[in-house]
Amino acid sequence: MDEHLIEQYRYFLKDSIRKEIDFSQTDQNKSVDAPPLEKPYRADALRIDLAKPGTWKDIAGLDLVAAIGHRESRRAYTQEALTLEEISFLLWATQGVRGEVVGSHAYRTVPSAGCRHAFETYLVILNGKGLDQGVYRYLPLTHQLLFEFSEDRLARKLVDVVFRQPYPGNAAVTFIWTAIPYRMEWRYHLAAHKVIALDAGHVCQNLYLACEAIGAGTCAIAAYDQEALDRLLRIDGKDEFAIYLSPVGKVRD
Ligand SMILES: Cc1cc2nc3c(=O)[nH]c(=O)nc-3n(C[C@H](O)[C@H](O)[C@H](O)COP(=O)(O)O)c2cc1C
Repeated sequence: MDEHLIEQYRYFLKDSIRKEIDFSQTDQNKSVDAPPLEKPYRADALRIDLAKPGTWKDIAGLDLVAAIGHRESRRAYTQEALTLEEISFLLWATQGVRGEVVGSHAYRTVPSAGCRHAFETYLVILNGKGLDQGVYRYLPLTHQLLFEFSEDRLARKLVDVVFRQPYPGNAAVTFIWTAIPYRMEWRYHLAAHKVIALDAGHVCQNLYLACEAIGAGTCAIAAYDQEALDRLLRIDGKDEFAIYLSPVGKVRD
């Protein structure tokens, strides 16, 4: 192994980079407007209202201790569809906004460094009750699901982009998180990238626990073909790129 290279990569995990940054020169401190809290969309795009917390009727009661105790990576799913109510719950648990948006701060159900929340959530829906197959995106500010596009042979393409790991092909829904790094760089400059990676862990852990609560299972996936997944999502791969995904389906247990 190239020791120098290893050292460089380890450096990314350290907070030493803070000493090298002139924080007076961040865009935030230069009074550049904060970037949008969610990726903009066309006004005429199809948006589906999601069920809000408090309106869920068929969601199993959450026993937090049991959910934590039973959490495991689940890679085998039944053919049961996920309902819109269940999808609403999972989206809220992973990226939902709690309370009012205050300026450039939209506090959510997960923590994020500086409340910057640099992620977008895409869903590849293969088996959603009453929902067409396709790629969708969560709109946390209005708690809606945006229909992005449909695509032929979506299950097959999804399996291909994760180096033929088969589970997303059998899942009802696959969560795919992209990063829009500038949202974090605006405040933290070069210290942004480590905290983006830390933030992703919180999101996926909430998905694991929320799945346990509704008799579903998930399995984090970080092994994917970067260019192919970005292409599949029709994103530019530069200012927005995929960083993590997790297929979800009902489990037999
Ligand atoms: C960052 C990260 C990346 C992972 N990537 C994959 C993956 O690409 N494929 C896979 O089958 N499991 C993946 N996993 C799941 C791990 O293999 C799993 O968490 C580990 O074996 C421990 O099992 P448990 O989650 O059931 O406790 C990943 C987990 C994490 C946290």
